[in-house]
Amino acid sequence: MKEEDPILVYKDIAKIYRGGNVAVEHINLTIHKGDFVCLIGTSGSGKTTTMRMINRMLEPTSGEILYNGQDIHKTDPVTLRRHIGYVIQNIGLMPHMTIYENITLVPKLLKWPEEKKREKAKELIKLVELPEEFLDRYPSELSGGQQQRIGVVRALAANQDLILMDEPFGALDPITRESLQELVKNLQEKMGKTVVFVTHDMDEALKLATDIVVMDGGHIIQNATPKELLSHPANKFVEDLIGSERLIQARADVTTVGQIMLKNPVSITPGRSLAEAIRLMRQRRVDTLLVTDDDGYLKGFIDIESLDNRYNKATSVSDILNTHIFYVTDDVLLRDTVDRILKRGLKYVPVVDAAGKLQGIVTRAALVDVVYDTIWGDSDDTDSETSDEPVIKNLDTDAPNDKEA
Ligand SMILES: Nc1ncnc2c1ncn2[C@@H]1O[C@H](COP(=O)(O)OP(=O)(O)OP(=O)(O)O)[C@@H](O)[C@H]1O
Ligand SMILES: [Mg+2]
Repeated sequence: MKEEDPILVYKDIAKIYRGGNVAVEHINLTIHKGDFVCLIGTSGSGKTTTMRMINRMLEPTSGEILYNGQDIHKTDPVTLRRHIGYVIQNIGLMPHMTIYENITLVPKLLKWPEEKKREKAKELIKLVELPEEFLDRYPSELSGGQQQRIGVVRALAANQDLILMDEPFGALDPITRESLQELVKNLQEKMGKTVVFVTHDMDEALKLATDIVVMDGGHIIQNATPKELLSHPANKFVEDLIGSERLIQARADVTTVGQIMLKNPVSITPGRSLAEAIRLMRQRRVDTLLVTDDDGYLKGFIDIESLDNRYNKATSVSDILNTHIFYVTDDVLLRDTVDRILKRGLKYVPVVDAAGKLQGIVTRAALVDVVYDTIWGDSDDTDSETSDEPVIKNLDTDAPNDKEA
């Protein structure tokens, strides 16, 4: 989809008010057809200003905006607005017009015949699951949520490709807001619309957006997909905006075992003597050693107990090698792994790459640090059928490779 020409391009846009009051500055942004772009930021950060320049409700002080490749400055504002749907903050239905008249406002401007307008209105009211009789009512005869639904479909009435929404659901109760969010998302996906949506609400942005544009002090701080934003917030401001709770949740969702493992675990090869093993344990202050072959493939472990028990009979690491070892691969998501590791009560788990080479270890302490909250939230293990099942196997019966020495 992204190979297409963009529908909207901001080129170094600034809006500076009298007295040098900078509303926005250095706004560079490219929006493609079918994108759902959420502008999010604190109050006064420039979201509305950024949006209103799209349909020339505000004129930039400098820079250029291209709509379908055309400089909007050279397009008649009225024509432009007929092509761009707009849902203003808190509904914006005309109180003296019926719902029908409200919905067909732009089609009327476009001089559609009566028949076509009527048909469109019926189609749209059905789309938002309101009865056809409502077309003859006035906005005040509808509830706030119903009015908002009309506001949303009105923006769709003239088949505009680009729809601007400035905090459309801000004043609604959570349940109505949620159903409208679903409505908008569905319509946008089904009808292939492009949406630019201003919000204060990070949950709303994460739910709706394909691209989240974080603004602060008139600047774009970060422009990323929800997933990227959660996994790589650009700075402390973005982190705070996302909130620590969501970050903790998200970290388990996007973080792989490889990202949190401790690298360079203490390991030994099977040919070494037990005296060497003891020396290494003492030196590194550990009571178990992972055992790998010369090429670094994980073979098992030895621990201080078996070393102690069999010291007299055994001479090399291979004599007391325990191959019953659980491990995970570095590419599995923490989310899918954590419960299992913790439930086994292991102090640490070795991490191997896809070929079975030892990469590191994940300690219980590190896991608890990262995902403590998430784990206890849903420790009921119902998702064990998922395809990216973590690899926790026994080297004895299920070796990851055949490099047995
Ligand atoms: N007509 C104006 N004259 C001077 N300054 C203005 C004017 N309109 C807006 N501003 C300033 O521009 C900045 C950005 O305003 P804007 O309305 O874009 O913010 P916003 O991010 O939409 O905020 P909110 O979340 O409160 O709606 C603010 O500092 C605001 O005070
Ligand atoms: Mg605003």
